[in-house]
Amino acid sequence: MKSVRDFDVSGKKVMVRVDYNVPMDDHGNITDDNRIRATLPLIGYLIEKKAAIILISHMGRPDGGPVPALSLAPVAQCLGTLAGHEVLFAPDCLGRDVEAKVAALAPGQILLLENLRFHKGEKKNDPDFAKALADLCDIYVNEAFAVSHRKEASVVGIPSFAKSCAPGFLLEKEMQSYRDAMENPRHPLAAVIGGAKVSSKLNALLNMLNVVDSLIIGGAMANTFLKSKGINIGASMVEDDLLDAARDILAKAEKRGIPLLLPVDLIFASALDGGAERRTVKIGKEDVPDGWMALDIGEDTMKLFSDEIKKAGTIVWNGPMGVFEMEAFCEGTMAVARAVAGADGAFSIVGGGDTALAAKVCGVADRVGYISTGGGAFLHLMEGKELPGVAALEYM
Ligand code: 3PG
Repeated sequence: MKSVRDFDVSGKKVMVRVDYNVPMDDHGNITDDNRIRATLPLIGYLIEKKAAIILISHMGRPDGGPVPALSLAPVAQCLGTLAGHEVLFAPDCLGRDVEAKVAALAPGQILLLENLRFHKGEKKNDPDFAKALADLCDIYVNEAFAVSHRKEASVVGIPSFAKSCAPGFLLEKEMQSYRDAMENPRHPLAAVIGGAKVSSKLNALLNMLNVVDSLIIGGAMANTFLKSKGINIGASMVEDDLLDAARDILAKAEKRGIPLLLPVDLIFASALDGGAERRTVKIGKEDVPDGWMALDIGEDTMKLFSDEIKKAGTIVWNGPMGVFEMEAFCEGTMAVARAVAGADGAFSIVGGGDTALAAKVCGVADRVGYISTGGGAFLHLMEGKELPGVAALEYM
């Protein structure tokens, strides 16, 4: 696959698909600008090479029509500040005004177009919509790893119409880091998977069993595994329809000789409330108070998981160990973040919004090998699937 460095971009209109789907508070303030910062190296490169830069992105999930709260206008401002460079903004992504703005765009200038998903054609991968966008540029660059699992017009459609296309620096780095971790790992390779639902990670768990040396499962999804073994976990969140799937994963791991670690103690609370009464319960050994639910892993589990993580040569981590967003139940996730960062000489890769945030909050982000900007896209790779956005570039 060609790299953006292989093209002479000077004086060209370069359209860059970025993922600026960033969290915002009620006042339109961006609360996590990581995805914007992650695109600065490519933008800086294109400015230096005197390309005219057209940025395109989605924000949130509008239903194919304009939603003022999902405008990318605040992102244009934030990018301008971060890049130390003027960022022009077009209040639509297609139409005469956009064409005029693109035609007037000088080398070294940046123009951000309004939310692609304000048009129905984006999600539907409408070829007319994709072609109209492709016609605005000389070169299309995909710098949006985090949305590359979506078969949308700006991800898979534009490459089939654009004169030239290439991956951007961030997309290359994301793919390379994942491949480094999974295709040629330093053994032992440990996967740490958490989060609320087995259902959303079932395929990732199954695929991980094909590649890892050990599997650590935490978060509410561990409850389903514990219950599938006949263990009482009180009123904790469980997916009863997935008990058989959980048993199947446990049996596969055993058959293949892959250690599968589940919590040995959990923090139970009387309610989903940071101030609620709480108690550590040794799983299968102590009674769970009636109506209480597990909201974090206990200290013995933190030690068990951390010891396993520290033995690893490569670690892939996705998903929190408890209700991380509540301070009262974040300690298990923090302990795992510290263990991942402290695993001497290991290469670690972390994906998923909560997981990346945990590494950041713990202050260990700079000691993790790579923190992905992707949630769904990262999981897609963990499932062993090809990203449609990457495939669209490869086959051009
Ligand atoms: C994400 O935040 O995971 C990406 O921006 C994709 O967004 P989507 O799930 O709305 O397609």
